[in-house]
Amino acid sequence: MHGLAQFVAIAAFAAPAVFAQSAIWGQCGGEGWAGPTTCVSGSTCVESNPYYSQCLPSTATPTQPSEPSNSPSSPSGSGGGTPVSTGIVGQPTGPGLNLAAKKAGKKYFGSATDNPEFTDAAYLKILNDTNEFGQITPGNSMKWDATEPEQNTFTFSGGDQVLDLAEGNGQIVRGHNLVWYNQLPSWVTSGTWTNATLTAAMKNHITNVAGHYKGKVYCWDVVNEPFNDDGTYRTDVFYENIGIEYIAIALQTAREADPNAKLYINEYNIEYAGAKATSLVSLVQSLKAANVPLDGIGVQGHLIVGEVPTDLETQLALYASLGVEVAITELDIHVTDLPTTLPETAALLAQQQEDYQSVITACNNVPGCIGVTIWDYTDKYSWVPSTFSGQGDACPWDANLDIKPAYNGILAGFA
Ligand SMILES: *[C@@H]1O[C@H](CO)[C@@H](O)[C@H](O)[C@H]1NC(C)=O
Ligand SMILES: *[C@@H]1O[C@H](CO)[C@@H](O)[C@H](O)[C@H]1NC(C)=O
Repeated sequence: MHGLAQFVAIAAFAAPAVFAQSAIWGQCGGEGWAGPTTCVSGSTCVESNPYYSQCLPSTATPTQPSEPSNSPSSPSGSGGGTPVSTGIVGQPTGPGLNLAAKKAGKKYFGSATDNPEFTDAAYLKILNDTNEFGQITPGNSMKWDATEPEQNTFTFSGGDQVLDLAEGNGQIVRGHNLVWYNQLPSWVTSGTWTNATLTAAMKNHITNVAGHYKGKVYCWDVVNEPFNDDGTYRTDVFYENIGIEYIAIALQTAREADPNAKLYINEYNIEYAGAKATSLVSLVQSLKAANVPLDGIGVQGHLIVGEVPTDLETQLALYASLGVEVAITELDIHVTDLPTTLPETAALLAQQQEDYQSVITACNNVPGCIGVTIWDYTDKYSWVPSTFSGQGDACPWDANLDIKPAYNGILAGFA
């Protein structure tokens, strides 16, 4: 029961900050990086991009797009960061989720988190473990209501706290998000706007927030959830006052504020073909045709156990074919009928394991799918139960911070 916590505690001591050299798979350079710039023996510091260099095994070629690899050998080959099997039934004996993703040629496996959770040391120990998570997304603290609660008054303390944690661990950060219809302060939603005044306010927000984190985040979800499920544009305050041009203006402004951040549009219910997916494809094509900066499509991946879309891989490949990278940005797979299924049956947990494996396999099979983020790793802090009554148990770790069969599904998906 408590084996995992112990296991993680041991792994945490091997975190890069403890040593003068970075561990295998650890960060070893990049803009703003103050940690070690040399790697332990058996690994070499390789630049991934201007803000992230990483210690890669000297013999590996992980920058190649993923060919499924079933090699049973240790991902590191040598070096101190490799956890050993706890030998506890049900506990992972695999290499950790981020290590599995890296071995498969992906950039990261990551988790969302939120500032109130930072008082929970047992939770943080696992979040800090770069064998499990190479990437962090702040669940709330970089959103508009958190960063600009009054017009032109900016507060970055919550976002900075998440960024500092990630930097301390050598984890990359997905900035989330700049323009969204939800979690807006009332001065935005209830303001009296013209096209010109709202465009100026939006640009000021993006310039300040993306400017504050310039060079420090891997990417931004610049526009979040622009479509209704029927494929029409969401008629939020931005659309109503600025028109669909708000999307291009937001992307251009973000590029100017942080030229090195990858710029994403992030959306849900695009895991399968349909009107919403079709509209997104048209939008991406028109933005590309107009030379608007756009680097990625975020496919959120809030799914239901037993209902993973069978065409997910096809959709990921379709988006990647548009000349953008693709990431699964908010994965969780929840149970819809908790009262009758608690405690979950073995069959339900097995189905969830299979579902996680299906999603990871889909990303693994599409070279343009660069990484996967789960929307927090534990049922203890999942957003699902408070949003959808009677639903939940969506994460690979349970509320006691013990792994569930879903964990092994993720490992198997990257194998
Ligand atoms: C988590 O990582 C941060 C940043 O490296 C560190 O300051 C904090 O002490 C760690 N917490 C735990 C519980 O490991
Ligand atoms: C708002 O202004 C922009 C130019 O900044 C223009 O492209 C767009 O069409 C205008 N939107 C509306 C709804 O008039």
